[in-house]
Amino acid sequence: MNNEQKLYNLAQKARENAYAPYSEFKVGAAILTANGNFYSGCNVENASYPCGTCAEAGAVSAMICGGDDKISEILIMADADEILPCGNCLQKIAEFSSGNTVIYSADLNKIVHKYKLRYLLPHKFSAKDL
Ligand code: THU
Repeated sequence: MNNEQKLYNLAQKARENAYAPYSEFKVGAAILTANGNFYSGCNVENASYPCGTCAEAGAVSAMICGGDDKISEILIMADADEILPCGNCLQKIAEFSSGNTVIYSADLNKIVHKYKLRYLLPHKFSAKDL
């Protein structure tokens, strides 16, 4: 199985466990790191809506907890024509990425788009801006 397929399968499994009773919009995300490790996450909503977290945030947390910090590829999956990370999540992803990090967007059947992070977030806020 190639890396794209592994990312797809992991995001699919994560999405099944998403907790999205308010929006009913389940999202799964999966990360492949520079070390060749995989991590996943799902969105976790909350009755206090702003407390909810995106699938990408969950996957990034799992990656950091697992001891990795370089994202090579990340796949986002939802029941949508094209799911892309929100602005907040692009910044979260960018913290651990280069402009060449690949972002796959997938629906419930297949990967539908592939972008480089630099295309979706040309200017990130970084440590040098502090
Ligand atoms: N959501 C994600 O998990 N990732 C995205 O890229 C966009 C939105 C979640 C947040 C919320 O639980 C639901 O989708 C509807 O916005």
